[in-house]
Amino acid sequence: MADTISLTLEVWRQPGPLAKGRFEKYEVKDVSTNISFLEMLDLLNQRLLSEGTEPIHFEHDCREGICGSCGFMINGQAHGPDRGTTVCQLHMRKFKNGAKLVIEPWRARAFPIIRDLVVERAPLDAIIAAGGYNSINCGNAPDANAMPIGRDTAEDAFDAAACIGCGACVASCKNASAMLFTSAKIGQLALLPQGQPERSKRVVAMYDEMETQGFGACSWTQDCEAACPKEISVKWISRAKRDYLKARFKEGL
Ligand code: FES
Repeated sequence: MADTISLTLEVWRQPGPLAKGRFEKYEVKDVSTNISFLEMLDLLNQRLLSEGTEPIHFEHDCREGICGSCGFMINGQAHGPDRGTTVCQLHMRKFKNGAKLVIEPWRARAFPIIRDLVVERAPLDAIIAAGGYNSINCGNAPDANAMPIGRDTAEDAFDAAACIGCGACVASCKNASAMLFTSAKIGQLALLPQGQPERSKRVVAMYDEMETQGFGACSWTQDCEAACPKEISVKWISRAKRDYLKARFKEGL
């Protein structure tokens, strides 16, 4: 594979939430295949700044696939073509020389565009806040052999806790549903003793908040699982739905 590649980028530019957006074309030449996608955009932004042009706005923080800040569509795929990878961990070696890449923000009614590739993802935070707090005082970190749950359960809960809240599941869903995100957040606590006292209240509140925030319904296309950089399974949706029905029944609603 060539050590450098040249690309044509079509990037969504939108100066503000209410401004009209459009795609702008940029030719980028001699890009090292060893750098990341965000580093490629950094280089393009340096060029734009030196030309006196507004750089492309995009979100990032850790650049290690941990924080969930980054994320946009590359040729219609959330976080780009590499499975189980955030865009900050995506490397230019994944693209062919001469490729044309269309880069655009998450598109969802609940995620209004702030600028260019940056969208408002506070509605995901609102779902978490609706879940409330756990009333159990967990104290200090316990000894491993004193844990009241088995290793398999702990690992299962950790799989759900791996969700970084990037919003790729919403952006890849034709209904812009936040069901995978919400179910993972519900599921991680539903498996643990600390999550039991508020279990019913939590699932109902988080489901209701999801609707209030304008996310769509789940129609089980499973695109969310395919797009998730942490490969969160749709099994969490089934589990959360069961929890929701039980909670509604319990509360007589
Ligand atoms: S910048 Fe933190 S996950 Fe990509």
